Amino acid sequence: DWSMAAYKEEAIEKIRAQVGDGRVICGLSGGVDSAVAAVLIHEAIGDQLTCVFVDHGLMRKDEATEVVSLFRGHYNIPLVHVDAGDLFLGQLAGVEDPEVKRKTIGRLFIDVFEDEARKIGGADFLAQGTLYPDVIESVSFSGGPSVTIKSHHNVGGLPERMNMKLVEPLRELFKDEVRALGRELGLPEAFVGRHPFPGPGLAIRCPGEVTREKLETLRQADAIYLEEIRKAGLYDQIWQAFAVLTDVRTVGVMGDGRTYDRVLALRAVTSVDGMTADFYPYEMNFLGRTATRIINEVRGVNRVVYDVTSKPPGTIEWE
Ligand code: XMP
Repeated sequence: DWSMAAYKEEAIEKIRAQVGDGRVICGLSGGVDSAVAAVLIHEAIGDQLTCVFVDHGLMRKDEATEVVSLFRGHYNIPLVHVDAGDLFLGQLAGVEDPEVKRKTIGRLFIDVFEDEARKIGGADFLAQGTLYPDVIESVSFSGGPSVTIKSHHNVGGLPERMNMKLVEPLRELFKDEVRALGRELGLPEAFVGRHPFPGPGLAIRCPGEVTREKLETLRQADAIYLEEIRKAGLYDQIWQAFAVLTDVRTVGVMGDGRTYDRVLALRAVTSVDGMTADFYPYEMNFLGRTATRIINEVRGVNRVVYDVTSKPPGTIEWE
């Protein structure tokens, strides 16, 4: 793509001009945006960049390992991997309100990130994978008042406290453009094509209290769901697909016995920028097959439902 090749060169020049011989620290989330930002910045300034991956223990199955091996193995980018799962889950104990969950995770994320930044001797710049739609943080419906729907998970406040300037090389781009830039930078297709994943991770896909047991159940069910989507060749047609483990329990039968287990919801949407979305119209036999596998293979789930809500009025995530 000639235009992305040119955009890349221009972006690299801009980063060099902004950063000079300063040091840059970049938080990796495991998502496409921060990865593309990091690889782009690394191309521009090499080892003046250090990446920090705060692993909050709320990632999907195998995700943390994949991120670490991509950065250390493939790109050889200096990466600090902080295993902070105990801290996050400890602070989330007993928290049920979605906004309190988001704020707790956001606050801890900043604390941990700040500690790590100090440990490596600080930096002059903080890099973020902010996209254009993130810049428009609040959503305005049909000319009505602007309303903030959910608090966004980022490192707000940190740059000022640590006296760092921001480097945001993706600020003008939409998601599809970030993906094109990622390809231009040689990121593996499987990584570039990944569905978006929210900063607060699986915590906002476990309505009610977040526990290790619920996270484990959700991870297993989510992995089966995504495996079925890939097998059916649907992954690239969907903007985002994930499972939500509800706190609702229902009665079921298994063999001769009665079960009383949780309801799992499946979500899949199409979208261009995440601002609006339509539920994905699966074939019923896809849903039936996936539900059967999940109920047979995942302990603790005995009923599966499909979310047919579009955005608006629903949001993509449940919390
Ligand atoms: P909602 O649920 O608001 O989500 O319709 C729109 C898109 O944003 C993602 N999302 C987040 N991404 N930090 C992120 O980096 C967050 O706190 C966050 N909350 C939602 C969501 O997955 C969807 O792609």
